Amino acid sequence: MSDKIGVFDSGIGGLTVLHACTEVVDGEFYYYGDNGNAPYGTRSEEEIYALTRRVFDVFFKLKVDAAVVACNTATAVCIERLRTEYPFPVVGTEPAISLAAKHCASCLLLATEATLKSERLARLLRKFPHFSVRAFAPKGLVNEIERNIFSLEKIDLSFAKTEEGEGIVLGCTHFVYLRPFFQGKVFDGNEGIALHLLSVLGNAGKGDHPQGLQGSAGKGDHPQGLQGNTGKGDHPQGLQGNTGKSIFFEREGQGKSIFSAKNAKKNICFFKNTQKCPKIVYLGPSAGHNKTIYEQMFLL
Ligand code: DGL
Repeated sequence: MSDKIGVFDSGIGGLTVLHACTEVVDGEFYYYGDNGNAPYGTRSEEEIYALTRRVFDVFFKLKVDAAVVACNTATAVCIERLRTEYPFPVVGTEPAISLAAKHCASCLLLATEATLKSERLARLLRKFPHFSVRAFAPKGLVNEIERNIFSLEKIDLSFAKTEEGEGIVLGCTHFVYLRPFFQGKVFDGNEGIALHLLSVLGNAGKGDHPQGLQGSAGKGDHPQGLQGNTGKGDHPQGLQGNTGKSIFFEREGQGKSIFSAKNAKKNICFFKNTQKCPKIVYLGPSAGHNKTIYEQMFLL
């Protein structure tokens, strides 16, 4: 029997994580995007915790084998509490600082207000005392992405000017959609999350994915898995290239973005390389909306 996996985000951001997970793990995925309550990042800790618990109660009733908090904000605020309260393993999402520190002299960390204020992020940053991190919460950006998912090229990213040698860490899963529009080296943790999920499930992975086969990298809570740093971060194809069809955006400075305004709609499907439609059940009031976004962005 295949594993049941709950994947949760405040909205559509977690669909990027969901896709990465479906590339590595054979399972039945249940996606809950709480779009009606997004953004979470400007809410109080207690509100974020309460909203997250409502979703986790749904996962509990479904008897999932594992859950992925595909949201940096909810991870930062309450993952420890979730892990003590629910009987299944919970995989979180954290800014890929460790990966960026390997490749850059410094970074611009883009995340929500709640993530930036969190003690969990402070703890993570203390592990890299010599790596300089300039943190910024772009106002209204999560909402803008929710509203303009099919016209992302309209979004003004002038706030993300980087200095020489500075990478960009996308510390919010919504921001991962904007990856093709940033200059320079850009990092997210999605690949690490997928591999972490794989190891948590003790799943042998999809046969055709070289990383999947090696996916026992990391156990339980290991910080590297959460940050996308599996020790294989230099893999130029990452999770994108495994059909040999296309690499749709620059990953860690390698590969080529083929985005152009002319065929924006087509090219925003930047993860497109799925061999078959994974089994995904969409939950909650925005189920139909999230299904449409997933299909348009990842499967077209
Ligand atoms: N996508 C989420 C994250 O990774 C949260 C965005 C929000 O709702 O503010 O932080």
